[in-house]
Order: sequence, then C-alpha cells, then structure tokens
Amino acid sequence: MDLSIDGKTAVVTGASRGIGLAVTKALVAEGVRVVGVARNVTPELKDAGAVPVTADLGTAEGVSAAFDAALTELGGIDLLVNNVGGGDLKVQGFLDTDDEQWAHLIDVNLLSTVRASRIALPSLIERKGAIVNISTVAAHLPGLGPVAYASAKAALTALGKALAEEFGPQGVRVNTVSPGFVRSSIYDSPENFGGKIASAFGMDIPTFLEKAPGALGITTGRFVEPAEVAAAVLFLLSGAAANITGADYVVDGGMLKAV
Ligand SMILES: NC(=O)c1ccc[n+]([C@@H]2O[C@H](COP(=O)([O-])OP(=O)(O)OC[C@H]3O[C@@H](n4cnc5c(N)ncnc54)[C@H](OP(=O)(O)O)[C@@H]3O)[C@@H](O)[C@H]2O)c1
Repeated sequence: MDLSIDGKTAVVTGASRGIGLAVTKALVAEGVRVVGVARNVTPELKDAGAVPVTADLGTAEGVSAAFDAALTELGGIDLLVNNVGGGDLKVQGFLDTDDEQWAHLIDVNLLSTVRASRIALPSLIERKGAIVNISTVAAHLPGLGPVAYASAKAALTALGKALAEEFGPQGVRVNTVSPGFVRSSIYDSPENFGGKIASAFGMDIPTFLEKAPGALGITTGRFVEPAEVAAAVLFLLSGAAANITGADYVVDGGMLKAV
C-alpha cells in the first residue's frame, strides 16, 4: 500500500520506548522527518533516525518547549502523534485516588494532548495534516481502571472526535487508536503497572503475562505488540486514510466484545 507520507514531517510524543518508539521507527522507515519527544533519550530512540527532544510533557512549559524545538527543527508539522500517556499508574480504587493523582493522570494522559494540539494546529491547518491520539481500550471499559487513567483517556477519545469535527473543514484529520494490552514497559517491567498488578495477585511478571490474555478474554490469546499499534497509526496518518476522520480504531486482539 502506498502511504504517501514520504518527505513529510512528524512529531511523536513519548517516543523513547514502547508504542511511541515503534511509531517513530515506522515513520522514519517511510521517509518521514520525525522529532521524538520524551523525558529521556534512550539508545533505541537515538538509533531510530529521529531528532530527539527532551521535555516533561506533563507540564504546560514542557509541551511548549518541546513544540518550539520541533517547529524550529522541522519548519512545520504535517503529522502529530499524541502518544505520551500512562504516568504513575497504581492498583487502586476510586476512594484511594486523591486529587493529586487525578491531576497527574489528567496532565499526562489528556492535557499533554490538549496543549500539544493547540500549539501544532496552526501548522497542521496550513499543511492539511493529520493527528492520531493514542487512547486505550479502557476508555471503552472504564471499570478496568485505574479510574483516573480510564476517565482521562475517555476524555481524550472524546477530544479526538471534537477536534475532527472542528478542524475537518480546514483539511486536518484527527483519529484515535485505542490499544488493548500491549507488551511495553507498562506491563513487562517489575517497577511499572504490570509489576504492581502481578504482585497484587501474588504472581511474578512472567506468570502474569502468561495468564493475563486468558483472564482478560483477549481473543487472539496474546498481548498486542507495539509495532502492531504503529501499523494502525501509520495507516490513519497516511494518504490511504484520506477520508477517515473522527474514527477510533481498537487494536486489542479482540478483547472488547461490544459492537
Ligand atoms: N501498554 C499498554 O498496554 C497500553 C494500552 C493502552 C494504551 N496505552 C497507551 O499507549 C501510550 C504509550 O504507552 P506505552 O505502553 O508505549 O508506554 P511506555 O513504554 O511506558 O512508554 C511511554 C513513553 O512516554 C514517555 N513519557 C512518559 N511520561 C512522559 C512525560 N511526562 N513527558 C514526556 N514523555 C513521557 C516515556 O519516556 P520517558 O519516561 O523517558 O519520558 C516513553 O517514551 C500511552 O498513552 C498509554 O496510555 C498503552
């Protein structure tokens, strides 16, 4: 399939590992000039062929500094992938989630995209560009939790639809990709969310990763790979999806059972 994105410019947030790194590599492979933003530059991001920019996208100042640097580097933005998200996820219910935790997860999972899109949109309008926001299947299944994460991501999915409506007439397409359980550091690193869930169930990470697909009803019987999410993102950014906007593509191995 001809994606028709060769020579375009892109900003990918949360580019140093996981889904963001996979998207960055896939865009570079298609001939796109990419600025990849994260708080740290990993060796993998360094080797990906993108221009790394360090910033904390959980703050307004960080987003502003990152996009100033990206606009200077690229001269304009054709494609924006608002991938940054997650944050300090805890195994906790609503009554244990204080205002500080709500504010943190809303900053990282929702306001990062609000702020990035606000800065990038004038350039995206000028270039008739495209945005893909990375939400989660938990936006459709908020009971999965954590409640503040799922709620922030549900708002992010709604934001994508609203931006698609407002800016579609000016030539900007906005779509959402909602991954299910993805094999990234969120789940396979002991100090991250997967490690916390595993220990809450008295398991180690390998046992959790083996048992989770069956327990969660993932039809394909396995976690999603970051590159499989990246494939959906590239399609939605590309000329092949020129008349797709306001959509929400779920990439979850069949976990979401509702139509
Ligand atoms: N993994 C899953 O199962 C899953 C499922 C559904 C949705 N998602 C969503 O997919 C997206 C990517 O997740 P992932 O699984 O690839 O996670 P990951 O492996 O933890 O990667 C997260 C990326 O975001 C960066 N990042 C985190 N906080 C940041 C901040 N405050 N400022 C700047 N960069 C920051 C990280 O780099 P630094 O730490 O160096 O900053 C890293 O590059 C997130 O929006 C997540 O909610 C993931």
